[in-house]
Amino acid sequence: MKQVFGLTSLKGAITMPPDKSIAHRSAMFAALADGESVIENYSMAADPQTTLSCFRQLGVNIEQTGTTVTVKGVGRSGFSRPEAPIDCGNSGTTARLLTGILAGAGIEATLVGDDSLSSRTMRRIMAPLSQMGVSFEARDGDFLPLRIIPASDHRVIPMEYSLPIPSAQVKSCILLAGLFGSEPTVVAEPVVSRDHTEKLLNLPVLEKDGVRYISTSTDTEIPLQNYSVPGDFSAAAFWLVAGCIYPNADITLKNVGINPTRTAAMNILKRMGADIEITNHSLRVSEPVADMTVRFSQLHATDILPEEVPNCIDELPILSVAMAFAQGVSSFRGAEDLRHKESDRLAAVAALLRGAGVDFEEHHDGLTIQGNPGFVAAPATYESLHDHRIAMSAAILAGRSSGKSVIKDASCTAISYPRFWDDLSVLSEM
Ligand code: S3P
Repeated sequence: MKQVFGLTSLKGAITMPPDKSIAHRSAMFAALADGESVIENYSMAADPQTTLSCFRQLGVNIEQTGTTVTVKGVGRSGFSRPEAPIDCGNSGTTARLLTGILAGAGIEATLVGDDSLSSRTMRRIMAPLSQMGVSFEARDGDFLPLRIIPASDHRVIPMEYSLPIPSAQVKSCILLAGLFGSEPTVVAEPVVSRDHTEKLLNLPVLEKDGVRYISTSTDTEIPLQNYSVPGDFSAAAFWLVAGCIYPNADITLKNVGINPTRTAAMNILKRMGADIEITNHSLRVSEPVADMTVRFSQLHATDILPEEVPNCIDELPILSVAMAFAQGVSSFRGAEDLRHKESDRLAAVAALLRGAGVDFEEHHDGLTIQGNPGFVAAPATYESLHDHRIAMSAAILAGRSSGKSVIKDASCTAISYPRFWDDLSVLSEM
């Protein structure tokens, strides 16, 4: 539990935690490579640490000193069959990408997770992997615990698959299974989702009539390379919004990944009138990185289009907070998938807005929010529902209130951002 008081302003410079999506992938791809890789700036957050423990259970030697991780990759055929169920904790990315690797590598295993992960659908990966010849036993045919039963003779059947929903986890899961097929497995992606898997594995991407086609097979060379994980844009988004809505705010965020498939929230904030400056561009293992400075500005309303949703899916909770402080009526639709994240994030955000006294309407796939530039949130008790992004959104909202608010299970921020509460103190003391 944390108490948050109305804060006068936020000022200063902080460094963003390592990107969760890239950290997971760097560890997995290093484990799949033939030889040793060093990963700099690996995340201490709970989810990426879970990925390390899962691969240790598969016989991969992984050492960590501070934020430097050394992985002795075992190649495609070097994983050992785990003796016990593999615990994916709270991490959907770990569970879904790991399932693709195990299915491809022909390793029989059972995945388990915490209550939240055990209530998230796995059908979206079981359906395509079944077409590749892999079988499953899942609770109620959909949920963890999930037993992966490899294809007969341990060879996946290559296939062409058009993603029915824009999901980087589903895309990556299939492509990782496809690494073990004798012929190319092709994933067709009509709406682009985060492309870290393609970038870090240097996968060929063809674009035709607005659809991306990405393929893998045994011929795909898994690069033996060192990694340096950029700061997490999804963590930066909390401060970008805070910088816009806290009077006189002036916040610099260092070392933030600005891959265009991740930064839709920044573009949306800019069109709402945000004052965001990007400096110090550089490249880290094919991922662009920069510093960002955000200063208080008067926001105006916007409608987020359904096609923008996949590239700001994790930022919609905090964008909803921004909308509450913008002049006019804002909305987003086409975000039904938010109901299948670490919590039902549409219901969870609705509860935050209700607690703070925001005027809004909840739809099955989005929210319509009546903003007010002079809004002061009512002091409230917020449930994080053990969802890190809900806890952090609640914190930013609570700081713009007239009194003391309480955030329950506030330590769940450590799932992606262990220093979140420290950074809030640093910025509010300057
Ligand atoms: C992720 C993809 C997204 C995102 C999640 C991380 C990834 O999930 O919400 O936090 O690293 O691939 P979906 O693929 O389910 O949209």
